[in-house]
Amino acid sequence: MSKLKKTFTTQAKFMLHGGDYNPDQWLDRPDILMDDIELMQLSKTNTFSLGIFAWSTLEPEEGVYHFEWLDEAIDNIYRIGGRVILATPSGARPAWMSQKYPEVLRVNASRVKQLPGGRHNHCFTSEIYREKTQKMNRLLAERYGDHPALLMWHISNEYGGGCHCENCQGAFRNWLKEKYHHDIKLLNDAWWSPFWSHIFNDWSQIESPSPIGENAVHGLNLDWRRFVTDQTISFFENEIVPLKELTPDIPITTNFMADTHDLIPFQGLDYSKFAKHLDVISWDAYPAWHNDWESTADLAVKVGFINDLYRSLKQQPFLLMESTPSAVNWHRVNKAKRPGMHLLSSMQMIAHGSDSILYFQWRKSRGSSEKFHGAVVDHDNSADNRVFQEVTKVGETLQQLSHVVGTNRSADVAILYDWDNHWALEDAQGFGLETKRYPQTLHQHYRPFWEQDIPVDVITKEQDFSPYKLLIVPMLYLVSEQTISRLKTFVAGGGTLVMTYISGIVNEYDLTYMGGWPQDLQGIFGMKPVETDTLYPADRNYVNYQNKLYGLQDYATVIENQSAQTEGLYQEDFYAHTPAVTSHRYKQGKTYYIGARLHDNFHKDFYQTLISELSLAPVFAVQHEEGVSVQVRQSEEKDFIFIMNFTEVEQQITLETTVKDTATEKELAGEITLAKYEVKIVEKEKAH
Ligand code: GAL
Repeated sequence: MSKLKKTFTTQAKFMLHGGDYNPDQWLDRPDILMDDIELMQLSKTNTFSLGIFAWSTLEPEEGVYHFEWLDEAIDNIYRIGGRVILATPSGARPAWMSQKYPEVLRVNASRVKQLPGGRHNHCFTSEIYREKTQKMNRLLAERYGDHPALLMWHISNEYGGGCHCENCQGAFRNWLKEKYHHDIKLLNDAWWSPFWSHIFNDWSQIESPSPIGENAVHGLNLDWRRFVTDQTISFFENEIVPLKELTPDIPITTNFMADTHDLIPFQGLDYSKFAKHLDVISWDAYPAWHNDWESTADLAVKVGFINDLYRSLKQQPFLLMESTPSAVNWHRVNKAKRPGMHLLSSMQMIAHGSDSILYFQWRKSRGSSEKFHGAVVDHDNSADNRVFQEVTKVGETLQQLSHVVGTNRSADVAILYDWDNHWALEDAQGFGLETKRYPQTLHQHYRPFWEQDIPVDVITKEQDFSPYKLLIVPMLYLVSEQTISRLKTFVAGGGTLVMTYISGIVNEYDLTYMGGWPQDLQGIFGMKPVETDTLYPADRNYVNYQNKLYGLQDYATVIENQSAQTEGLYQEDFYAHTPAVTSHRYKQGKTYYIGARLHDNFHKDFYQTLISELSLAPVFAVQHEEGVSVQVRQSEEKDFIFIMNFTEVEQQITLETTVKDTATEKELAGEITLAKYEVKIVEKEKAH
């Protein structure tokens, strides 16, 4: 079980606690900078990300550098035993640069050149911007590479978005030439170009997708998104040249994001590709706790899912790079975390594999758009307020968790998420335009395991399937022959595979498979989907599964059974009494096909059968009601168990074995009570 070997992603053998520190906003207030150092100690914080948006302070005029303030900030942090995550400042440009070199400015999809200002809005192809960032990064590495406080590099900030300028069009055309072996016929074939008379006879005719131009050629859309990922990685690779050269032992990360309230994987970049270029995954999490459209536990499921995806990208602990100790400033309603929620939500991150709790930001700004964003230090500059106290509590708890650093999680169940598939599915003009809900569907399949405390890895298509007993692949609309063959090998070797409606429809070029469902899929499933019906919200239909009726919505696949066993039958409509859910044995393994989008009660019962069949079990069994989650970090010697109450009421928990309470070091067994939002962290020696 090598997965339980500790992986230290940085040199720190302690949990990182702290966050984005922007002393550059306070250089005319030395008193505040002194207070910071005292407050850092009081809040039990130890790690600070510096210089993220500091370019205009570091280089106020071209070629004129000011590093003294940064020297001082780093020295002061080190003096109190702290560490620094040093950022490269490419997330925002100084005004002089955009003025002198307008090519650094991004051009949007409507071909409008953006004005200077804002952030995260550069051209990633611009030679000048690449040269300037590399020069700045070299200076930072030369100056701070040997500083004992330097823990890691934070490259840029939240990379995202694409530029459509002429330089980028040129780079895109070159990328396409390489991909299609300099043969434009291959591109025309892949893009189905005769459609709407779009055959290209010269590479120079190709333009990136645009609302004022081409946006209906799906192959183009998909290739553009892939190019944007590759071009961003290429910009990133250029940024890190001097860092790798001068500080080869300092790990490198960049902060990833999640989209929308549902915390779905960020759609701007394929993180499965980006992950390969990073030493450590880090990400910025801003769940809207206490919102008015879902329960606390509903949201906790989504937080669990995205953490399990970002952890699984490298199958090692990750870092929470940004979070808020209270509210943000950009949700529709910016609600403060209720007492206890900060500790609970922070411990959930640790439980799913984070080795840090870092915040945006250390101190609230005095002006501009983030002056009301939650921070550790408020405008009152005091350690006495509730938020500061809750941060301190997290700091104290993290100090007790040093032995958790580097530990991982081990899962028998994997759910597959794929960026290419997500993009292609969203692009598909068909099915229900508003009901595809791919990541939300994955949440549905994740939930029964979360509820039963069974660990899940959320993996991507190139990862190894073989460690898992159960692989769940919902809505894999785009799937290459290569992936199909890997799925087949997985089942042949004894794995259990679950697939659903709207799967196996197009290949990696977004071209449909001809001649019905791919033969290999028919072979392993013993059936073939022949029609996908899309339902209106008011439409009603049911599936009879194991003599119980389950409601369905949005999608129903008509299935032609070949050699599969029927597990569930439709009840209504022209496909009444035909198979809706099937299973099939294939070599050493088994497959299940779920033809309809069924409600949560179905998934609960369906996966319960698989949990029994495959003897899937929680790492640590605890009896509890709904809304309590038990997640475990594991080492070779010990399990670290996080018992979390994501409900608004007290919960009685029954521990079946004796464990040690990490906070009090006392033994715990039998009935315990968790208050609203309480988290208990306990540990258990492994039986050898
Ligand atoms: C992040 C960003 C931070 C800060 C934060 C506010 O997306 O990286 O700089 O703006 O949002 O929530």
